[in-house]
Amino acid sequence: MLLAIETSCDETAVALLDISRRLDDCERCEDFLRGHLVRTQIQLHEPYGGVVPELAAREHLANLPVMVEHLLHQTGVELADLTAIAVTAGPGLKGCLLVGIAYARGLAFARKLPFVPVNHLEGHVCSGDLGARAERPEYPLLAMLVSGGHSELILAKQPLEYTVLTRTRDDAVGEAFDKCATQLGLPYPGGPALSRLAAGGHAPLYRLPQGMADDDTAFSFSGVKTAVHRLVKSLGDQLHNEQTRADVAAAIEDTLVETLLEKTGRALKRSGVRSLLLCGGVAANGRLRRRAAELAAQRGIRLVVPDFQWCSDNAAMIGVAAARRLERAGGVAAWPPAGSEACVARTRWPLEQLSPAG
Ligand code: KG4
Ligand code: ZN
Repeated sequence: MLLAIETSCDETAVALLDISRRLDDCERCEDFLRGHLVRTQIQLHEPYGGVVPELAAREHLANLPVMVEHLLHQTGVELADLTAIAVTAGPGLKGCLLVGIAYARGLAFARKLPFVPVNHLEGHVCSGDLGARAERPEYPLLAMLVSGGHSELILAKQPLEYTVLTRTRDDAVGEAFDKCATQLGLPYPGGPALSRLAAGGHAPLYRLPQGMADDDTAFSFSGVKTAVHRLVKSLGDQLHNEQTRADVAAAIEDTLVETLLEKTGRALKRSGVRSLLLCGGVAANGRLRRRAAELAAQRGIRLVVPDFQWCSDNAAMIGVAAARRLERAGGVAAWPPAGSEACVARTRWPLEQLSPAG
C-alpha cells in the first residue's frame, strides 16, 4: 500500500494506492486507487490575485497530517499496512515542497519504509493512467501539459522516458488565462470564468498576437497579456457592454488555444506518436478539448483527456508515477535504485533530468 503526498503549490493532496498488482494489469482505476483527498487553497489566495507561497506552506502544514489521518480512516488502512511513501519533490514552491517532503521523510523513517521522490510534471503525465485500461495512453505519447505553472509539449517514447519538445519562455498558458481574466475584472483564478464568458462571444472581432509563432521549441504567452492590456484601455467604457466583454474573452481563448494547437499539430506530424494526452488544469478548457479531439481524429491517433479531478493537482497522479518507478526498479524491495540522490526540494526540475531507470 503506497501513500502519495502532493504539496507543491496550492493544493494539499493525499492518495492511497494498492501496488500489489502491476498498474497495467488493473482494468479500472478503482482496482489500484483505494482513496484520495484534495484540499484546495483557492479561497485563501483569492484576495491576493495569486498564490502567496508563505501562506500556502503554512496551510499545507496545518492540513496534511489531518488529511492523512482522515484518508487512512476512510479507507480502513492502518499505518502498519503502508509499504512505501511517495511525495512530490519538485518542481514547485520551495516552502510548500519542504512541508510534504519533511512529513513524508519523517513517516518513512519512523516506519522504515522506502521513500519515493516524484517529479510533479511526471505526475501530470501519469494522470493519463487514471482511467480505464482501454482508455489509457498508448506509447509513443505526446503530452500537452498545460497548467497555471507549466506549458510543455512532452514526447514520451516509452513510459518514464521524456524529451521536452516545447516549453514556455515566459508565462504559462494558465497564467495567461488568469492575467487576461483579471484585466476583464473576473475573479481569480480567471481561466474557468473567462472560458464561460467566451462561450457567448465572437472571437474574430479582435486580433491578438500568437507568441513565437515560428519557433516550435518555445511558447510565449506574455505578449497576449500586453495586447489585452492595450485592447482593454482602448475599449474603455465599451467594456461595460456584456457582449463586448464576451467577444474579447472569446478572442483571448481562441488565441491561447490555437497557439497550443498549432505547435501541437506540427509536433504530432514530426513525432509519429500513437496518443495525445491533455493534462494540467487548463485541460479542463472545453474549447481546447474540442480542438484537440479534432486534431487527434485528423491524425488517427488516440486522445486521452483525464477526468476533471485528475487535471488539476492531486496525489493520485503522484502515486501512479511512484508506482511506475517502483515497478521499473523491480519493486519496493529493490528501491531506492543504486546511485539515486537523497531527496531535496527542487524549485526547478526539468523532465530531461530524470533517468528512466532511477
Ligand atoms: O493544474 P492547476 O490546477 O494548478 C497548477 O497550476 O498547478 O491549473 C490551474 C490553472 C489556472 O491557471 C486556471 O485558470 C486554469 O488552470 N484553468 C482553466 C480552466 N480551468 C482551469 N483555464 C482555461 N479554461 C478552463 N476551463
Ligand atoms: Zn500541477
